[in-house]
Amino acid sequence: MPAPAIVVTSLVKTFQGRGAPIRAVDDLSFSVQRGSIFGLLGPNGAGKTTTLRIMTTLARPTSGSVEVLGYDRSRPRSRSAATSASSSRNRQRTSC
Ligand SMILES: Nc1ncnc2c1ncn2[C@@H]1O[C@H](COP(=O)(O)OP(=O)(O)OP(=O)(O)O)[C@@H](O)[C@H]1O
Ligand SMILES: [Mg+2]
Repeated sequence: MPAPAIVVTSLVKTFQGRGAPIRAVDDLSFSVQRGSIFGLLGPNGAGKTTTLRIMTTLARPTSGSVEVLGYDRSRPRSRSAATSASSSRNRQRTSC
């Protein structure tokens, strides 16, 4: 079987507010095979948007990793990738 297109491993995202920290994503792991259709479902506040923001490099995880087509998406973007992602076209594509 070919390598999965997406591999999310032990993903955690904590937001530090004025009160107690909010654990928006709590140890999430899943993989998505190439050519498959995958739905990320959950109640309001489950962490879907936060997960997608990390997968598209718009947010950094507190811990864990995200790999898309073999690229580690949980690390800071390179300067050129960041510049490209800031174009208005890409901004529309990555909003969720
Ligand atoms: N920038 C932020 N600062 C602080 N808390 C945040 C931030 N973004 C999200 N949260 C909190 O993280 C949790 C997960 O939010 P998220 O938006 O990822 O959930 P969701 O599954 O997309 O919800 P919905 O179905 O309502 O869109 C919520 O408790 C939310 O209030
Ligand atoms: Mg959402």
